[in-house]
Amino acid sequence: MKCIAIINQKGGVGKTTSAVNIGAGLCFLKKKVLLVDLDPQAHLTYSTGIKAHELEKTLYHVFRGEIPIIDAIIERPTEAVLPFSSQSRHSGIFYVLPASLDLSGADLEFGSIAGREFLLKENLSSIKNYDYVFIDCPPSLGLLTLNALTTADEIYIPLQTEFLALQGISKLLETVEIVKKRLNHGLKITGIIGTRFDGRKRLNREVVERIRDYFGDQFFKTLIRENISLAEAPSFGKTIYEYKPDSYGAQDYFNLSKEILERDEKK
Ligand SMILES: Nc1ncnc2c1ncn2[C@@H]1O[C@H](COP(=O)(O)OP(=O)(O)O)[C@@H](O)[C@H]1O
Ligand SMILES: [Mg+2]
Repeated sequence: MKCIAIINQKGGVGKTTSAVNIGAGLCFLKKKVLLVDLDPQAHLTYSTGIKAHELEKTLYHVFRGEIPIIDAIIERPTEAVLPFSSQSRHSGIFYVLPASLDLSGADLEFGSIAGREFLLKENLSSIKNYDYVFIDCPPSLGLLTLNALTTADEIYIPLQTEFLALQGISKLLETVEIVKKRLNHGLKITGIIGTRFDGRKRLNREVVERIRDYFGDQFFKTLIRENISLAEAPSFGKTIYEYKPDSYGAQDYFNLSKEILERDEKK
């Protein structure tokens, strides 16, 4: 089981979009995937079509010790016909551990208890039968994100290929270093995802070069292009493959999923 935190304290860079569509992509590639929504705004939860009124049990109740983690996990069947994939018909089930707004008080509610940095790790330790667990982090470096960093084996950082993409990144890297030193020695940044790329813009191409210089091999070759379908899909509760299987967004995230798998299987 590989546990990957998708993190960037900036909002709107593509964390949630990446978690959902890499998760569903790997599911189509026959991997068992759990998506953990660690953001109190619960965008991942709603983006996958889970309705607020269906949400009685969430990560919040798990953190409070009211329910075991398996009781909160939701099965999410998915299928799509992808015109660009040789085996065009795909189906599977991915799993979602939903969030709710209650989590927004986590810093206050859990901030003074012993082991507060390990709430997620402790609860996830009873879960073993997944190939990939992705943790979708909130846009901050507070207690919830700290919990993701103590739990994860690896970190993916989505960067919008725009002006100021690398701004704030040194703060993030510093936090990762501190966690590595004190709380999770094995933690590694293994993937930088270039998102919302527009190849027609010179600035975008320059930013991609800068990211490549900075991160080298950690930077995934597959770039995620700016694509309106990716912005529309969440409001229908659909993955990009379900919403617009012939879109650039579907192609890019499927290619990225394949790149991840190929790289992990080579290791
Ligand atoms: N490649 C893309 N092209 C167009 N819109 C995108 C793309 N990636 C994300 N978006 C949209 O941008 C917004 C922010 O993305 P999101 O994944 O929610 O970011 P984060 O989780 O980092 O805050 C959302 O409305 C999303 O639908
Ligand atoms: Mg998000």
